[in-house]
Amino acid sequence: MTRTVLLAEDEAALRAGFARILERRGLHVEAVSTGEEALRVIGEVPVDLLVSDIQMPGMGGLKLLTEVRQAHPLVPVIVISGTASLEDAATAIKLGATDFLQKPIASERLVLTVEHALRLEDLRARNTALEHSAGTRAELVGESPAMRRLGELLRKIGPTDGRVLILGENGTGKELVATALHRASKRSEGPLVKLNCAAVPGELVESELFGHEKGAFTGAMRARRGRFEEASGGTLFLDEVGDMSLAMQAKLLRVLQEGQLERVGGGRTIQVDVRVLAATNRDLASMVERGQFREDLYYRLNVVTLRVPPLRERPEDIPLLAHTFARQIAERMGRKPIQLDDDVLKALSRHTYPGNVRELMNMIERLTILADGDRVSASDVIGSAASPPGAASLYRPGAPFRDLMHDAERRILVAAIEAHDGNKTATARSLGIDRSHFFKKCRELGISSDE
Ligand SMILES: Nc1ncnc2c1ncn2[C@@H]1O[C@H](COP(=O)(O)OP(=O)(O)OP(=O)(O)O)[C@@H](O)[C@H]1O
Ligand SMILES: [Mg+2]
Repeated sequence: MTRTVLLAEDEAALRAGFARILERRGLHVEAVSTGEEALRVIGEVPVDLLVSDIQMPGMGGLKLLTEVRQAHPLVPVIVISGTASLEDAATAIKLGATDFLQKPIASERLVLTVEHALRLEDLRARNTALEHSAGTRAELVGESPAMRRLGELLRKIGPTDGRVLILGENGTGKELVATALHRASKRSEGPLVKLNCAAVPGELVESELFGHEKGAFTGAMRARRGRFEEASGGTLFLDEVGDMSLAMQAKLLRVLQEGQLERVGGGRTIQVDVRVLAATNRDLASMVERGQFREDLYYRLNVVTLRVPPLRERPEDIPLLAHTFARQIAERMGRKPIQLDDDVLKALSRHTYPGNVRELMNMIERLTILADGDRVSASDVIGSAASPPGAASLYRPGAPFRDLMHDAERRILVAAIEAHDGNKTATARSLGIDRSHFFKKCRELGISSDE
């Protein structure tokens, strides 16, 4: 990840010299000659470190330090004092400077001090990231042969930098798999950034992916990093890639090919170091055949495919999942986990779960709410499984309408196919749509033809 150092130094020769030394170490340097200019720049571009001279005409370094501490408290500051006065240095540290340098400055000294400050900043950022991720588990529960195989693949692929395409129906655990891959990778301490490709409006695609400079378009009041930059040093999880517009596909292809990007409205090229994971519940291969998804992008994303099997293909996992969810949900609600006796487990195992693991989890939650103390009976399960999914279970907070409709259509078709024992012709007839339309719909919704 290219780091940006903002350098404020009024002496032109020193400014150029310092900038050259830092640039040689792979840093991006924004060099300015006054405190006022420094303040303007730091408000416009993301700055990782400020290095400022104390004596400058106009706003001096100490005033600048005070302002920056207030407006950008996370940016570390190194001050440079010209006079051989330790007093300035002491004041600067008191005001919150990370370190100080005294002129004349040897180039090694400059580099060491800057790199040290950036490392401290990394540590701080990592700590914050860890605090955020603590409490969100990424454990894939399941002992079935299919889940064991998936676990083995995760252990093999996780540590590599390879791109992975995660395929699976709704609610099978694709996002969980992506999180597990990130955690198993060498990038686990870097960021994991998630982007729902179906939810990005066409006109914002570029700015969302690549960021923009201040004033790049109406409403761009300040510069902003795109998702690729945010994920630098870590993983970018592109969710619902099958629902991405063709325009977005083109933009994405370019950055994946080149490994570099330009912000909207900005001339400079930014190198990004990002591992890309993608997921979809759609049949991308047949979308490629039908020209709905770019073949070149498909191969870029799909270095390794992981298929997360639907729950009905691994009913052995249902008891373990049910117990796990019962415990987690009870803990969250501050009550005792429900008792899952044999009859209840049998009833749970008979259901086919078109909504997969998410549906099972919702069912356990419903049972916990309805339970008499910790008692539930098999008939409660049948009751909740047989009741048609109401609007409340179709709605997921935060999910775009398009996704919800997609889920709803999918559930209807799966239920209809089930009701006709898998006979697709009969299903199509009962729904009053012709067979070709029906099969097209099945493909679009990722319902396999042998389902
Ligand atoms: N094997 C598993 N063990 C434990 N929890 C799981 C497992 N699989 C899925 N879940 C849980 O089920 C829910 C749905 O999983 P997730 O969001 O990863 O599915 P998804 O495939 O991304 O779904 P969608 O296609 O709807 O986006 C999550 O709450 C997740 O934690
Ligand atoms: Mg998902």
